[in-house]
Amino acid sequence: MKWETLADYAALSTRAAALMLDAISRDGKLVLGLPTGNTPVGMYDRVVAECGRQYHCFRDVVAFNLDEYVGIPRDHPGSYFTFMQQHLFSHVDIDPKNTFIPNGRAPDLKVESERYDRLIRNAGNIGLTVLGLGSNGHIAFNEPGTPFDSRTHVVALSESTRRANAAFFLDQPVPTHAITMGIGTILESRSIVLLASGEKKREAIARLRSGEQSADFPASALWSHQNVLVLLDEAAAVSS
Ligand code: GLP
Repeated sequence: MKWETLADYAALSTRAAALMLDAISRDGKLVLGLPTGNTPVGMYDRVVAECGRQYHCFRDVVAFNLDEYVGIPRDHPGSYFTFMQQHLFSHVDIDPKNTFIPNGRAPDLKVESERYDRLIRNAGNIGLTVLGLGSNGHIAFNEPGTPFDSRTHVVALSESTRRANAAFFLDQPVPTHAITMGIGTILESRSIVLLASGEKKREAIARLRSGEQSADFPASALWSHQNVLVLLDEAAAVSS
């Protein structure tokens, strides 16, 4: 696992955007795994700004989102579908046919999960996955206790995760379940960049650095992968 500490959130976002755009310039047909949450917003802003200056930036890129809430319509303001339109997809030339997000309203979520894994496999697996980090160590929506070989599946969200995401739902209740790529699915990505910013992530970063590998701390699965870069800012890095 490689580690890079950037001065602040702005520098972290610039670095993450550069990594994504470099990967696309090396392979115009790159398959991306994409995160939501607050942390990647700055990265997406910079990617969008840069792509405004380039011709056909995302034309042949394929994107698989990590997760989606169960039970809300895709145009709900809190859905990850809406998030991705707002922060990336509606601002770049990605082909909507090449953007995939699990369908949290599918009639049979097990069938939907299997379909999602199949789509990823058929696309030749993911080349670069960008991940955020939950303060309890979750990656995508894989909460503590998730087996490291899990495939795309439905999860019950922990109270702390629901609270952490409440701002996206304003005064409406945060869904109780989500559909997420599994840890096994994520580990099949050829390269992974994990983003962590701010004091709220310090504890999780310290635990990740400790080298402990256990299902109680989902991000620790990344230790078994050959090509992981952890990008953090100083606020997330400093141990108090
Ligand atoms: C949600 C997402 C995760 C994300 C996490 C951290 O739970 N499903 O993919 O990593 O939030 O979010 P934030 O970046 O807002 O701290």
